[in-house]
Amino acid sequence: MKKLSFTLFVLLLVACSTTKSTLDPSVHGLYGKEAMVVSAHPLASEVGAEILRKGGNAWDAAIAVQFALSVVYPVAGNIGGGGFAVFRDSQGNVGSLDFREKAPINAERDMFLDKEGNVNGRKSLEGHLASGVPGSVDGMVRLFDRFGSLPWTELVQPAIDLAEKGFILTESGAANLNRARELIKKLNTKPVFLVREESWKSGDRFIQNDLANTLDRISKQGRDGFYSGLTAQLIVEEMQRGNGIITLDDLADYQSVWRDPLIGNYRGKRIISMPPPSSGGVALLQLLESIESYPIAKYGHNHWKTIHVMTEIEKRVYADRATYLGDPDFYEVPVTMLLDDQYLTDRMSSIDFKEATPSEEIKEGRVDVIESVETTHFSIVDAQGNAVAVTTTLNSYLGSKIMVDGAGFFLNNEMDDFSVKSGVPNQFGLVGAKANEIVPGKRMLSSMTPTIVDDANGLLIVVGTPGGSTIITSVFQTILNVVDHGMNMQQAVNAKRLHHQWLPDRILTEDSTLSPKVKRKLIRLGHAFESRGSIGRVDAILVLPGGSLEGGADPRAQDTAVGF
Ligand code: DON
Repeated sequence: MKKLSFTLFVLLLVACSTTKSTLDPSVHGLYGKEAMVVSAHPLASEVGAEILRKGGNAWDAAIAVQFALSVVYPVAGNIGGGGFAVFRDSQGNVGSLDFREKAPINAERDMFLDKEGNVNGRKSLEGHLASGVPGSVDGMVRLFDRFGSLPWTELVQPAIDLAEKGFILTESGAANLNRARELIKKLNTKPVFLVREESWKSGDRFIQNDLANTLDRISKQGRDGFYSGLTAQLIVEEMQRGNGIITLDDLADYQSVWRDPLIGNYRGKRIISMPPPSSGGVALLQLLESIESYPIAKYGHNHWKTIHVMTEIEKRVYADRATYLGDPDFYEVPVTMLLDDQYLTDRMSSIDFKEATPSEEIKEGRVDVIESVETTHFSIVDAQGNAVAVTTTLNSYLGSKIMVDGAGFFLNNEMDDFSVKSGVPNQFGLVGAKANEIVPGKRMLSSMTPTIVDDANGLLIVVGTPGGSTIITSVFQTILNVVDHGMNMQQAVNAKRLHHQWLPDRILTEDSTLSPKVKRKLIRLGHAFESRGSIGRVDAILVLPGGSLEGGADPRAQDTAVGF
């Protein structure tokens, strides 16, 4: 009897400590009464917060943060890439802007295949041909024209100052600049100032004069400071030196698109996310709507049943993504069907708690290795309660590794997000088909999932993350962590993540996400595992009862919340 109660006592202790590690109240994010910016870099978050302190709104701050990130976080922050913004104003009106890159007019469906029809090396990933026509600057101009309240020049100036006067590199900032030195040297047609004799180290001041001049042209001329005039000329000269295909016409023609965001419901909350050409919104809503009928809060966070059902749903959703998702301006994406209740019920009806369904039985495909990649997300709420979620990318770390000589910025390698050959995986192991094949002027499919959640009381969560194919499932888990598992924002961001994308057929986990017992149980059901150092960098904001804000900055990197 004594022995039994001792065992019970130990079990109770273990149970309490497990709960504590996930929901320890001492783990919380930065609190702010009025406004909050959470981004990948402390200096960029500070730039955004300063705009908000001056009375700028969430869109003003988003523009300033986007330009600041292009300076202080050049591996992913950009003017040579593209992205998506999802927003909700203080009255609950929602919208989204698509400033995703486009295939150049001279692009061709098989441009990355050799004569035998095989994928030709790494051309969709490295070098001049890998770039889509950039959309970020047009996106910022459009957001400003519709929502800006402070002068445009005041929004670009902090980035100019950071580029011109420089800023002090942190250890990880320096390490970021030192990666891929040889590749940058090999691929560029002119020396790139960032690749110096000696490597960068923490404490160095990083000055970017060409970038400061480019930003100054954008500040003075708006859209024309990038899409025509000297910057456009420098981009096209760079293309011509490196056998790229972006022309002056491509740049002049680039237009962002306002799109109606996708709206769904999850346990009484409204989910507002990015429609195609991102797959993020469709997939996120499919995931949430499918898991709604399972009592995962009762199963518990990281219980084997929760993980089994999450990953089984993920396999089916990612298989749909591969076949049906692409740029809606070129391919009819069956969004209504994919989100139909009956369709999802039928689609998920084969999920069995006794065994995992092998991915081959869902649909065929192949496996690939994932390289180091970079995108960035930031979340903003202003003092009026307007919210903006922006995810923006160069695709890989430093994009195509091509710096526009004289203009000081890197170009994206977003062409690899197209399905360069049907069924052949891209760098994220994602496969695609006709819906996402290359067509001139078409946007490549994305996984970026800037998302806003609200309910009857108003704004609740602003969330998003980088991470390629893992973006969708990281946003999914963050929402479940708050809504089902009762976590605060920082706990939800800190919680270990896992991911299944149908192919390859394995659950990717961060180290020590699952207890050995849960893992053994899932292996017995037929799941396979692979570990990854870290998955995603979620930057999110939670509105607390009473209206104050909790910023959750991802501790996996130097992401920072600044609020007041
Ligand atoms: O748009 C997409 O889905 C990809 N280009 C995103 C790349 C990414 O997130 C890389 N980041 N870590």
